[in-house]
Amino acid sequence: MEYIIFAIIAYLLGSIPSGLLVGKLGYGIDIREHGSGNLGGTNTFRVLGKKAGLFVTIADILKGTLATVLAVIFTPDINPLIIGIVAVIGHMYPIFAGFRGGKAVATSGGVILGVNPLVFGIMIATFFVMLYLTKYVSLSSMITGVVSMTVSFFLGDLGLFIVITLLTLFVIYRHRANIKRILNKTEPKITWM
Ligand code: G3P
Repeated sequence: MEYIIFAIIAYLLGSIPSGLLVGKLGYGIDIREHGSGNLGGTNTFRVLGKKAGLFVTIADILKGTLATVLAVIFTPDINPLIIGIVAVIGHMYPIFAGFRGGKAVATSGGVILGVNPLVFGIMIATFFVMLYLTKYVSLSSMITGVVSMTVSFFLGDLGLFIVITLLTLFVIYRHRANIKRILNKTEPKITWM
């Protein structure tokens, strides 16, 4: 019963469509009708600028962190990583935004921040090194997933490894269109780094 209640809370938290709220309330637009069409921090940066993009990215990270931290604090019997996965599903398929959500990157990072800040730090460092080298946010996000899988494997934390593997599969699956664009060289590169 406890698991179900926490899973529902995590799904609803993950479902909070920060990109949609910022776009609609602050600028009167649905960011899913602009740029890449994604409801995430990157597309918010692209369409609405730095301030809005940073706000949405942080809000999306915190959804994942909050879900796992609540599970850690209130229910020692529940594995917070499972609750984190549900929050990421909420982020990808949000009930509050017609089930058209983001690509799992920021909220997955937030889940890892909630359970293992060291691995989160390695993820952030990997992401920015890859972004500097490739200039693709999407490719950097996917590579960060694969690197953090490898890190968790070598840390010997089987539970973390399995969950990061699943989250990385979510991330790659949600980037199908980006992968096609990278291959045919039409994926936009960042210009600020
Ligand atoms: O976090 C999503 C990012 O990796 C790609 O976003 O808008 O370029 O598809 P976008």
